[in-house]
Amino acid sequence: MSRGFFITFEGLDGSGKTTQLRRLAATLEAEGRTVVTLRQPGGTALGDRIRSILLDSRSEATFGPIAPAAEMALMFADRAQSIAEIILPAVASGHIVLCDRYTDSSEAYQGGGRQLGSERILEMHRAACDNLQPDLTILLLPPLESSLHRARRRNQRNVQQRGTDENRFERESDDFYRRIYAKYEEIAAREPHRVVAIRDEASIDQIEARIREVVAARLTPVTAS
Ligand code: TMP
Repeated sequence: MSRGFFITFEGLDGSGKTTQLRRLAATLEAEGRTVVTLRQPGGTALGDRIRSILLDSRSEATFGPIAPAAEMALMFADRAQSIAEIILPAVASGHIVLCDRYTDSSEAYQGGGRQLGSERILEMHRAACDNLQPDLTILLLPPLESSLHRARRRNQRNVQQRGTDENRFERESDDFYRRIYAKYEEIAAREPHRVVAIRDEASIDQIEARIREVVAARLTPVTAS
């Protein structure tokens, strides 16, 4: 059996990556491929617990301020678990894994946003994830202001409609997001083969078409059986 393929989606909150991931999953499934989707943090029982600690804006009322290095370590605890439980078994079975955020998010948010620096994140990646790299990363980088506007609007809606409050990160300052944006740019420049950055604000359908092309060029075509 041939090895599968591991694709990650990256970008700021509100960049549209989750919508695009779902659309790509549907396309690949329609071609007869087996697709496994997950998000980080979360996706495993342990990861879901970590997610609620990290994202719920009420966490700090319970735990006090979460130290940046603790935040980084929790992100990697989640990641190590989902690699062992989901990603490696799926890739070994020949499936396509689509993961909503991965180590680039830690480099951008904790390394850039929280100013821990890239080297610390990359060391942690080697230690906790055995340096497992995606085969391809789709990085959605529309202009900063439009991502932030969408993310904040969506969070308000979720609080009002569902009572969920995952906006510990969305409450950060614009400078925090500017550092994240700059770090994503740095990652894209450093690893041009792995990371395909889509920067313009085209329509959802146009971006979907671009992503399909990029992915089709990297995947082995499905052969009729
Ligand atoms: P999302 O699932 O809506 O994309 O939200 C996840 C949030 O967690 C988002 O604000 C980015 C943040 N995050 C980090 O700060 N570091 C990480 O390593 C990951 C995976 C997510």
